[in-house]
Amino acid sequence: MKKIQLSNGLCVAPAALGAMNFGTTTSKEDAYRVLDAYMDMGGNFIDTSNNYAHWAGTGDESELLLGEWLRERRCRDRVVLATKVGFDRHGRGAGLKKEQIEYWIDESLRKLGTDHVDLYYAHTDDMSTPIEETMEAFHALVKKGKVRCLGGSNYDTWRFAEANTVANMKELTPYTVMQQKFTYLYPRSDVAPKYTFNETASRERLRFLRDKSIPLVAYSCLAKGGYEKDERLPADLIGGERLAFLREMAREKGVNPSALAVAWMVNLYRCEGFPRVIPLFSSSRVEHFLDNLRGVELELTDAELELLNRA
Ligand SMILES: NC(=O)c1ccc[n+]([C@@H]2O[C@H](COP(=O)([O-])OP(=O)(O)OC[C@H]3O[C@@H](n4cnc5c(N)ncnc54)[C@H](OP(=O)(O)O)[C@@H]3O)[C@@H](O)[C@H]2O)c1
Repeated sequence: MKKIQLSNGLCVAPAALGAMNFGTTTSKEDAYRVLDAYMDMGGNFIDTSNNYAHWAGTGDESELLLGEWLRERRCRDRVVLATKVGFDRHGRGAGLKKEQIEYWIDESLRKLGTDHVDLYYAHTDDMSTPIEETMEAFHALVKKGKVRCLGGSNYDTWRFAEANTVANMKELTPYTVMQQKFTYLYPRSDVAPKYTFNETASRERLRFLRDKSIPLVAYSCLAKGGYEKDERLPADLIGGERLAFLREMAREKGVNPSALAVAWMVNLYRCEGFPRVIPLFSSSRVEHFLDNLRGVELELTDAELELLNRA
């Protein structure tokens, strides 16, 4: 896989692997299969969080499993490792106060068995903590070498911009990566999102990122398996003709629809108004994962991209 520039000299694969369910609903054996296959295919960009997956366990499982895998495979120096802070873990841990950031980075480093993470995200905004406090605390981690670059996830665009304005004014490290929900299908506007923080990236958000040259790491980009099976499609996405068109083009190109959705995202930067999009996906089944990863190398002509955009 040809690598792309992420930030601060970091080069990553065009598609990232999500470890959210590893160690909870995805067994250790299945997680290792997917991790090994991703690395064998030339992948290097792995995503976790300090709270994955607390709804199915304690919230330590994903980082602990990754730490073990990195140690056993001796591949820490070949991985661009991203983790996050700021969300709840069974009623504790939510927030981006200085002491929370300082506490959770050390917890993450301990569990991951490493002395630094390459990308540290604010997992979601914390409106009750001054932005200065958050950005100063993150900057201190960069200065100490515990973190190489910063990202913001589940932020409103204006709050993300405000955080970076504060960072720039105070000569602190800004967010240079955004992680947000995004996929090929449009969200239904007549269904209130379950949580306000995880709205699907809007066209306006994409234009903002393009203008600032900030890559979008796109989560839930496979619509939870909905490209393959109607019954898996989340209720807040519109399937309809756009989904039918994607499935038909995928059939013609001899790939599965999820792989074509991945290819569309990987190539979107070629179109006006779109940033670099890095699809972030996962699977409990290595054969699904490898089918979907084929999208990274799939060639799309300008005409095909245009047709997909207009469908
Ligand atoms: N920043 C945030 O707030 C946030 C939120 C959510 C997720 N994330 C990150 O994004 C990563 C991926 O997110 P996600 O799990 O929400 O979404 P996703 O990648 O859109 O969906 C994964 C689901 O798709 C299914 N799937 C994939 N290929 C399939 C196929 N060929 N046939 C049938 N089903 C298929 C998988 O089922 P199988 O296991 O059966 O293959 C799995 O249940 C996470 O691991 C995490 O790192 C971040």
